[in-house]
Amino acid sequence: MVTIETPRSPRSRKGAKWEKWGWLYMRASGVVLLVLIFGHLFINLFQNGIQAITFAFVAGKWADPFWKIWDGAMLWLALIHGTNGMRTIANDYTVRLGMRKFLNVTLWVVCFALIILGTLVITTFDPCSDPSVNQIADISIHCGK
Ligand code: HEM
Repeated sequence: MVTIETPRSPRSRKGAKWEKWGWLYMRASGVVLLVLIFGHLFINLFQNGIQAITFAFVAGKWADPFWKIWDGAMLWLALIHGTNGMRTIANDYTVRLGMRKFLNVTLWVVCFALIILGTLVITTFDPCSDPSVNQIADISIHCGK
């Protein structure tokens, strides 16, 4: 009797099953992203309106650690989710191994750089770096002097 290997079955049962964890991550992060993204859109656009999104609005929001954590989680989860999704697409459509490797490395390097930059923006944000911030009436942040 001829036995045909199940398509996509792991070659080895040992070691970390990255594809399985990637598959699970896409579903788990998708559920959390639904809450984070639609909450973000609701608060920013629906409740306040696009005109209200100013430097002062962001400064006011980020004065509260809750929104820093919200935005940070959205940044990390969406970037890793999007990059892993693009990796799947690249793996599906590339024929040459060299091109596949190049695209995968590029994707993760860009993802890593954006996560570092975005995290730095959120964690080091200082509303007082803008000298005109004291003239903004609708935020109660007092800078120096
Ligand atoms: C609203 C929240 C989101 C949900 C519920 C969600 C859900 C999912 C799920 C379940 C998959 C896996 C599909 C599959 O394996 O067949 C997926 C794939 C993907 N997602 Fe998301 N996602 C969300 C947000 C995002 C965001 C913000 C990005 C971009 C940064 C993104 C980019 C991708 C990409 C590129 C894929 C791969 C598509 C493919 O395999 O054909 N998603 N998403």
